[in-house]
Amino acid sequence: MNNFSTKLTNWYHNHKRDLPWRNTRDPFKIWLSEIILQQTRVDQGLSYYHKFIDRFSSVKDLAKASEDEVLSLWQGLGYYSRGRNLRKAAIQVMEEFNGVFPKDSVNLKKLKGIGDYSSAAISSFSNDEKIAVVDGNVYRVLSRIFNISTPIDTGQGKKEFNTLANALISSIDPARHNQAIMEYGATVCTPKKPLCNNCIFSDQCEALNNNLVYSLPVKSKKIKKSTRHFHFEFILKENKVLLQKRDEKGIWANMFQLPLTETTSDQSPFSEKIELNWQCKHVLSHQNLFCKFYISNDNSSREGIWIELNQVEKYAIPKVIDNFLSQYFQ
Ligand code: ADE
Repeated sequence: MNNFSTKLTNWYHNHKRDLPWRNTRDPFKIWLSEIILQQTRVDQGLSYYHKFIDRFSSVKDLAKASEDEVLSLWQGLGYYSRGRNLRKAAIQVMEEFNGVFPKDSVNLKKLKGIGDYSSAAISSFSNDEKIAVVDGNVYRVLSRIFNISTPIDTGQGKKEFNTLANALISSIDPARHNQAIMEYGATVCTPKKPLCNNCIFSDQCEALNNNLVYSLPVKSKKIKKSTRHFHFEFILKENKVLLQKRDEKGIWANMFQLPLTETTSDQSPFSEKIELNWQCKHVLSHQNLFCKFYISNDNSSREGIWIELNQVEKYAIPKVIDNFLSQYFQ
């Protein structure tokens, strides 16, 4: 085994966190954990992982679930297309793979929502395929140790890091190597306040020795964010609240929301009698949402469904609306 991998996997052996998806070879469970962990950190991901595993003991169960149910379990993680793709991939496994979850990277990539990163993670963890994972942790660890300033969000950068990661991975235990490098990035070589004083690579880390730790990795583009103004109406009738289902395009596709009017400025589109109750800024990866919530009494023939307040939790609702409802009405 090469020196890099030996050092890394020895460190992992002594320092790894005990996480449930690390004690299984079941590609279904590993897949669930990886899709959840693309969306959130380990501490929050744990409760979602248990929620999904408790509800769906097999890929067959998940394939039979409704999209609404899967979205409501996914609620709070954001980026809801990932939640929808979970169910679509489960259906594909039933229809195209006879219900047997694939373990090899080539077949895994045929499933909805599985790309280079997840196929490498699932195939190595479940089947010891020798293929390197390259996620944000890996970019950070490798760019710093080897002082690579090629931007990670370019084709060239992706290729360069992928080649290096695959040159370093051990043939003896690729699963452990992949877990180890991600764990190192998540707990030692972190974006902010990395633990350089306790780093096993400090002698050879080119970024540390050239004072570049905080300059790496490099990204070429800054995300340009759009600004949107959302005005939500909270309408209550006999302890029931009016919800409307969003359509299948754009953010929060197919989820339920309070009736929404979008404007180009933050001025209320409603009459002065309709009182502003709460407002907040909600930040998504590509959009800043300025959300206002109004108590409205306009319940004349509005479209939507009337839901008992204590039943709202059964519906998949964007986090910002859920925050408002739980703060004020539950
Ligand atoms: N992040 C992504 N995959 C992970 C894993 N298997 N363990 C911990 N953190 C992760």
